[in-house]
Amino acid sequence: MEMPNRSKLSTNWSLDPSCVFLNHGSFGATPIFVQEEQNRWRRVVENEPVKFYEDLAPELMLESRKAIAKMIGCDADDLALIENATTGVNTIIRSLEFNQGDEIIVPDHAYQACRNAIDYVAKRWGVIVKTCKIPFPIKNKDIAVDAIMSKVTNKTVLVMIDTVTSPTGLKMPFEKIVKKLESKGINVLLDAAHGIGMVDLNLDEMGASFTTSNCHKWLCAPKGSAFLHVRKDLQHKIHPLTISHGMTFPLENTTRFRHEFDWTGTRDITPHCTLPATIEGIANLIEGGWPEIMKMNHKLAIKGRDIICKRLGIEKPCPDEMIACIATLPLPGNVSGGIPLHESDPLHKLLQEKYNIQIPVWSWESPKGRFIRISAQLYNSEEEYHYLAEALATELEF
Ligand SMILES: Cc1ncc(COP(=O)(O)O)c(C=O)c1O
Repeated sequence: MEMPNRSKLSTNWSLDPSCVFLNHGSFGATPIFVQEEQNRWRRVVENEPVKFYEDLAPELMLESRKAIAKMIGCDADDLALIENATTGVNTIIRSLEFNQGDEIIVPDHAYQACRNAIDYVAKRWGVIVKTCKIPFPIKNKDIAVDAIMSKVTNKTVLVMIDTVTSPTGLKMPFEKIVKKLESKGINVLLDAAHGIGMVDLNLDEMGASFTTSNCHKWLCAPKGSAFLHVRKDLQHKIHPLTISHGMTFPLENTTRFRHEFDWTGTRDITPHCTLPATIEGIANLIEGGWPEIMKMNHKLAIKGRDIICKRLGIEKPCPDEMIACIATLPLPGNVSGGIPLHESDPLHKLLQEKYNIQIPVWSWESPKGRFIRISAQLYNSEEEYHYLAEALATELEF
């Protein structure tokens, strides 16, 4: 089979040209100009480390928070710059105080690392974690809303939901779920790991208690850049995982939340320094900027999914409106799955070694089966999904 071409925009990335890279969803991929911008900041740090951390960093971090806030409709003062979404979820769940018998709801499509954090904390407080089953395949988004709301009781204090689920690639009706839960006084922790740069976010309007999102996925920022948004009325309850000077700094004209999150010890903040240039630089790749980029990626994910479904005779497991820029598909044929999540599926290795395709393959319980998840980013092209479809057809003997 002939290797497919990437899109014209792919020259902005340094991805291995021999690889058909269809897994932006796991760790993102950073354009060359963003890598260079980070290198520039690394040199600024090492040029004069004391000046950087003591004089420049506070202003730089403010500029980065402002750039994010503008994109997602919130106050820059309500944002903390952190390393990743797992840290965001841990920060919230390990800060909150619970009563024995309180209930937390988590859908079964939640990212396992975040679920683990909730289970860990729940056990310590005697909190009950209720798993909400969301069907997959799923016919419409109201099914997800109803599934979550049906688990709510007067003991429910917190619900963790995703913007876009990791194993099933479902764009959840998260705004609607947030409104319904928050209006009942239930705190929502929105896991928007697949959030900024992938789906529209308007945090102040949405009103979720807590939101965390990775910038290194769909914003294409360097690895280790993410944010946590905490609604103003809850900020006094939330502390960073690392307690540092901020706990006792004189308040002056700021908040304890700002002090605590603005300094959590010496760390590499060069990924965060790049955020204003990343947001602007990627927007400039396409006329229409970020709204158009999200639309393009969404359209390509739908197209890619159509190509694979048609070639392999797979029924689409959810309506188009329930995907954003990633899509999960059940593999056809006699592929019953059953490989534990922490073990690599041999098909993943085979696609990588024989076809140079990078794509996640894993097993899932409900329904039992084996799944792949495609991603669509500016550097991808339709040809790549055709190539994947042919490779799968050959290996699955279709
Ligand atoms: C839904 C979801 N939540 C959380 C995470 C964790 O992200 P990170 O490893 O950057 O903390 C991921 C990563 O893929 C994810 O898909």
